Amino acid sequence: MKIVQIGTGGWGKNHTRILSQLGVLVAVCDADAERSREYGEKYAVNHYTSIDELLEHEEFDGVFVVTPTSTHTDIATKMIESKKHVFVEKPLTYKSEDGERLVKLAEKNKVILTCGYIERFNPAVDIVKNFLNEKKYGDLVMLEFHRENRMPLHIKDVGIIYDTSVHDIDTANWLFDDMPVVVFARAGQINHEHEDFANIMLGYKNQKTAIISSNWITPKKVRTFSAVCTEAVITSDFISQEVRVEKNQDAEIPRNEKKEPLLLEIESFLGAINGKNELVVKPQQAVNVTKIAEAALLSSQKGVPIYLELK
Ligand SMILES: NC(=O)c1ccc[n+]([C@@H]2O[C@H](COP(=O)([O-])OP(=O)(O)OC[C@H]3O[C@@H](n4cnc5c(N)ncnc54)[C@H](O)[C@@H]3O)[C@@H](O)[C@H]2O)c1
Repeated sequence: MKIVQIGTGGWGKNHTRILSQLGVLVAVCDADAERSREYGEKYAVNHYTSIDELLEHEEFDGVFVVTPTSTHTDIATKMIESKKHVFVEKPLTYKSEDGERLVKLAEKNKVILTCGYIERFNPAVDIVKNFLNEKKYGDLVMLEFHRENRMPLHIKDVGIIYDTSVHDIDTANWLFDDMPVVVFARAGQINHEHEDFANIMLGYKNQKTAIISSNWITPKKVRTFSAVCTEAVITSDFISQEVRVEKNQDAEIPRNEKKEPLLLEIESFLGAINGKNELVVKPQQAVNVTKIAEAALLSSQKGVPIYLELK
């Protein structure tokens, strides 16, 4: 299998390392000539600064798009029209209509389209997902997420909801195995040109809720979640990947092996191309995350709940 990567910036350099380790990387492309050369030389693959040249000179099966959100639609459209399987970093697109168009285009061209909702591959989320599937601790009632950090200086095109809260929106949908019917949010701006703090409440069927609290103000990195189930409360940390289950007076720490979520995510996309495994992040689910992010911004602007009917 031959894979290329577009965008070798702050996050993309991790994909380049893993794709090279897996022996599938054939070329990189970054609009920044120095970066493109640096990673091309480091991993001994061809390097480009133009996507048209990449398409003209390289033969490949799939592509990773790891460029800023505002560029995702144009790049993904070109790649799908060239019949390549496409992995787009989160969020899939800035506007949900563009995402809907990409989903249809991928169906028409019979290629796989997916989006980098990496927390689905985090062993800490996976273990909780398995508990929920087995109903080991009863039914899931409420989720609460905290994702806090200093403001990332290089992200200019989107605010915290599209950049950060989307991870927890997708994880909430994944753990509830459902889509919310209502969104209520309050978001504001202190230092960034877009919103840099947000509290989002997602309402699912039967009064079940997820609360997503994100900010770019807290001086240290916090990424935690808790799941209130009918028979236990599960708390976890996305970073340490530790999980703690509290039931009655006792607490258990289930055995959980730490693994790199990005490696698992990339292997899963390659496996889906090969037909070895099912695609985990379905493109419509990624479009729904964008719709929920749009609803959160609108709810915050208008001060009202936004009702949704998601596919
Ligand atoms: N899953 C995660 O945990 C996670 C973490 C960080 C970033 N991301 C996502 O990854 C993407 C990239 O973020 P980043 O932090 O690496 O950004 P970045 O600005 O550090 O890097 C983006 C790179 O893309 C290049 N680029 C921009 N437009 C291009 C184009 N048209 N053609 C080729 N190259 C182009 C830039 O030169 C730059 O090197 C975003 O979608 C972001 O949301 C995901």
